[in-house]
Amino acid sequence: MNLTNEEKSKLEDIYQRFLNDEKILKMKEISMHRGSNTYIHSFKVAKLAIKRALKRRKKLDLESILIASILHDYYLYDWRKNKKLKKHHASRHPFISVENAKRDFDIPESVAYIIKVHMWPYNFKMFPKSTEARIVNNADNIIATKEVFTSKKHKDKNVDKYLDYIKTLF
Ligand SMILES: [Fe+2]
Ligand SMILES: [Fe+2]
Repeated sequence: MNLTNEEKSKLEDIYQRFLNDEKILKMKEISMHRGSNTYIHSFKVAKLAIKRALKRRKKLDLESILIASILHDYYLYDWRKNKKLKKHHASRHPFISVENAKRDFDIPESVAYIIKVHMWPYNFKMFPKSTEARIVNNADNIIATKEVFTSKKHKDKNVDKYLDYIKTLF
């Protein structure tokens, strides 16, 4: 997919709005994957998902891919600190993220769907049926795997580098 400069700057605007949103900044406090946090994680997923979507020939709904990537882990609780939530975190957090995203941002159904199915194959019955949903699911799996295999020490040391990397979408 080739984008015009206008299309690119529209996506960049959306990205920047979320990146600096007060509610989204709270995701920095939610740690995950050994020392990463949901803020850095989600914007990394967004960058990778858009990059991979642009490699496709098919015309895709890039806005939904972008917003769903940013909000896919918008569950806003620390599951390590809550036994009840910990037990079902992996299977339930997509639905909690959708609820929170609907409450805090005006998301369309296309975005809600991508968030709901992002935990495939863990949530085995929730196979992502659209290309957009599969792209976000893939990008999330790639980034999450990398994070799990990177030590906490390395992440702590490089947090400024990560923040610099996610500063812009393109
Ligand atoms: Fe997730
Ligand atoms: Fe994720």
